[in-house]
Amino acid sequence: MSRGKFITFEGCEGVGKSTQVNLLKEYLNKTNQKAMFLREPGGNALSEKIRKIILDPVNSEMHSLCEAMLYSAARAQLMEQVIVPAIENGELVICDRFIDSTMAYQGFARDLGVKTITSLNEIVCGDYMPDVTIFLDLPPDEAFKRKGGRDEGDRMELQSLDFHKKVYAGYKKAVDMYPNRIVCISPRGNKFETHNSIIRNLQARGIIK
Ligand code: TMP
Repeated sequence: MSRGKFITFEGCEGVGKSTQVNLLKEYLNKTNQKAMFLREPGGNALSEKIRKIILDPVNSEMHSLCEAMLYSAARAQLMEQVIVPAIENGELVICDRFIDSTMAYQGFARDLGVKTITSLNEIVCGDYMPDVTIFLDLPPDEAFKRKGGRDEGDRMELQSLDFHKKVYAGYKKAVDMYPNRIVCISPRGNKFETHNSIIRNLQARGIIK
């Protein structure tokens, strides 16, 4: 059995990530290609519970290191329980957010640094790094303007615009660190143009048909 493929989606809040994940899902359904869709933090019962703790605005005292560890804990469970078995079983796995979110949000915006987050990500991922990461490349001020405002429901969404700008700068650093894995796609055109570039990129890499 040959190993399955692993695709992740990344980007700042409001860039249209969920829309693109859903369009990819529709495309794969239409073309009879089987795939497993997950989101992070979450994707299984225990990791969804950890998600609730992380994102609850009540937990405003949460330390940055605790936050990074909780995201990693949720991911460790998802890896062991779902992602690794699926990849070993030859399946295509698609995850909305993954290790580059931890690098951008906790490594850069929370200032925990590249070394700490690289170590955490390596511990959790081992040999199961994504084959390709689609980064929807749009700065947060543009994303919020395009969306006509921003969501301020959870603890991360409630962070300042400066925080989200640091997240974006963090993503750009991650792109420099992993130029072969991370593909930058601008979502500035309409959603179908963005979708088509994603499909073309994944086809060119032999990940989907
Ligand atoms: P979502 O709303 O896109 O599902 O993601 C939840 C929030 O968690 C979002 O604000 C990004 C943030 N996040 C991190 O800060 N670090 C991480 O490692 C992950 C996966 C998400």
